[in-house]
Amino acid sequence: MFETRVTELFGIKYPIIMGGMGNIGAAELVAAVANAGGIGFLGSIRFSSGEELRQEIRKTRTLTDKPFGVNISMLPAARPIPNEEFVDVIIEEGVSAVETAARSPEPFIERLKKAKVRVIHKVSSVRHALTAQRLGCDAVYALGFEAGGHPLMDDVTLWNLVPRMVDALDIPVVATGGISDARQFVAALALGAEGVMMATRFVVTQECCAHQNIKERLVQATERDTVMIQRSIGNQTRVLRNEPARKVEEMENRGASLEELLTVIGGEHSMRAMEEGDVDTGIITCGQGIGLIQNIPTVREVIDSMVNEAAVLLSKIGSR
Ligand SMILES: Cc1cc2nc3c(=O)[nH]c(=O)nc-3n(C[C@H](O)[C@H](O)[C@H](O)COP(=O)(O)O)c2cc1C
Repeated sequence: MFETRVTELFGIKYPIIMGGMGNIGAAELVAAVANAGGIGFLGSIRFSSGEELRQEIRKTRTLTDKPFGVNISMLPAARPIPNEEFVDVIIEEGVSAVETAARSPEPFIERLKKAKVRVIHKVSSVRHALTAQRLGCDAVYALGFEAGGHPLMDDVTLWNLVPRMVDALDIPVVATGGISDARQFVAALALGAEGVMMATRFVVTQECCAHQNIKERLVQATERDTVMIQRSIGNQTRVLRNEPARKVEEMENRGASLEELLTVIGGEHSMRAMEEGDVDTGIITCGQGIGLIQNIPTVREVIDSMVNEAAVLLSKIGSR
């Protein structure tokens, strides 16, 4: 059940994906998703060299023999990210899938395709999805406005984006943004998506390396506890409404410069918050799906319950 072009593309059991998370999408979490029948993408933005990524890929291989991928984010970052080196390592290590985000995958796609690496690109608009298809991407994510991280500036909800993309494209579409449970999985399939990608849901699992305090804070949060920041610098980001996020809002309202904003939004603060568990140390990325997250299960429990409850839901809908 739930076999789609996405399960076929990545060689996985269920069309359930864990998106790249730069600071916490590490080997243990990615391997847990793979072992439970989905596919996860290792975050790469915390690595400053290809060799560091290579070690993480090798570590993941010791934890699973199932397919997994690597996220390549092309955000204009405060520090240079050696994406060319990452691509070299991905190909050398025989990683089967890459998830690209934030800018066109054009600089890398030819090399990745030649090496038979599957490429899924993250977009928030039909026009960008069409470009990704033309460039040769194997699939795209429809990234809704509800998403944690960087839904692009079009502000279109997943509910509208998925069917629009499905109608416009030949390649498969994977729904992402604010998805946490089986009802949303079924809804995404009904809209024409051939899979779902989640990130925030996987932060709140036992295998995620984020500090327990962060996970507990996300369990307490409701769908009203996220806020979109960084619009003033054209890089809007959905995050938990904590003290640093409030500070950024205040700074943006008075027209603060990028340099000033970086004193709060810098990735090092988020990393510390995630590691040390002080929720108000840094920006914490999360989507509106936190409202539906009520527990801290294992990754396998997340995926199994999603699939099993979706099957029950579908039969109930069918018998109505
Ligand atoms: C903690 C965290 C870190 C993230 N880091 C990255 C990243 O490094 N690169 C990237 O492309 N997306 C990143 N994202 C975005 C996710 O890959 C995904 O697009 C988005 O979070 C999906 O929405 P959801 O969190 O509502 O499920 C991150 C998301 C979270 C929650």
